Amino acid sequence: MVVTSCDDTHAPSQSGYDRISELKAFDESKAGVKGLVDSGITKIPRIFMHGHDHQQLDQVTESGDSKQSIPVIDLKDVNEDASSRSRIINQVKDACEKWGFFLVVNHGIPETILDEMIDGIRRFHEQDTDVKKKFYTRDYMTKKVLYNSNFDLFAAPAANWRDSLSCFMAPNPPDLEELPEISRDILIEYTDGTKEIATNLFELVSEALGLKPNHLRDMGCTEGLFFMGHYYPACPEPELTMGTSSHADSNFLTVLLQDQLGGLQVLHENQWVNVTPIPGSLLVNLGDLLQLISNDKFKSMNHRVVASSVGPRISVACFFRADIQSGNSMKLYGPIKELLSKENVAIYRETTVKEFVSHTYSIGLDGTSTLEHFKISKSS
Ligand code: OGA
Ligand code: NI
Repeated sequence: MVVTSCDDTHAPSQSGYDRISELKAFDESKAGVKGLVDSGITKIPRIFMHGHDHQQLDQVTESGDSKQSIPVIDLKDVNEDASSRSRIINQVKDACEKWGFFLVVNHGIPETILDEMIDGIRRFHEQDTDVKKKFYTRDYMTKKVLYNSNFDLFAAPAANWRDSLSCFMAPNPPDLEELPEISRDILIEYTDGTKEIATNLFELVSEALGLKPNHLRDMGCTEGLFFMGHYYPACPEPELTMGTSSHADSNFLTVLLQDQLGGLQVLHENQWVNVTPIPGSLLVNLGDLLQLISNDKFKSMNHRVVASSVGPRISVACFFRADIQSGNSMKLYGPIKELLSKENVAIYRETTVKEFVSHTYSIGLDGTSTLEHFKISKSS
């Protein structure tokens, strides 16, 4: 389904609403959503209103009512013995086929580090605006550290109620001085930890696909780490906007840390399921590129964050995919040959990480599936 934006999205309307000018003014403030809240607004600006998104979402059962919950996988015994490992691989397989999401506990990063990471993102967003403004940019092709509000501000049909700090952390990390001083140490410590977890997770996912443990690593899936630290300020009219619009991630695998406020929901069997925060856990989800190379065996599911009058909510996403700034992102990925057969032919054409991510950035989070664009058409 294609959801088109309203007529007044790009042109001044009779009511005098000039969306582009308002987007530009907001962007040029370099103060993000937090700046709006700090200025004392009690009504949200129209650029944040999600009329059409909500219409689309109405077709899905009411939010967060589902009795189901995301699978929780305990990684404690993953390298203990063969039978424990195969039990865990089966849990991963089941979660990847049915949910595209699972929570991990006993993953190896101490809770104190997780708490400090959340706090590091809070400190960044709550520091003096003039210091923060120096990081404000949308130059994803050359800058390694970026602070802005809505990576897709000018492309998406409606803006989201959140600000983000993004960093290209691997394989070519920024110089130390480029990282914001206020969260530098924890950013490095936490991302080093998630790299180790991801190495283990990619092995488990490879094995869950019936492949050798190092298959996905050998394909280069573990090579790049793109970090995003999100800050969702309290919203005066939460029912009119979204924290993050419904989307699937455009990478191989994401490791997500959220604070204890909640608000993240995952689409499962056509219902929005709340991801209830469990202290010390990390959420793992598969991205569209993993669904593509697994030829739909494993799923990349839509998820969203509802806006709330309580905040700020803080979350940290580590996206594993080739670095779009490097030549690695020109490598071709298509359905893995070992998974194909006469009965199971390739559904997707080959693409590069660069092409895939550029496509996502060009349409923004508009609720439609990026994967559809890469399907081999049935008639050809
Ligand atoms: C994302 C995302 C969820 C959250 O950054 O892609 O889905 O809880 N974030 O912030
Ligand atoms: Ni996401």
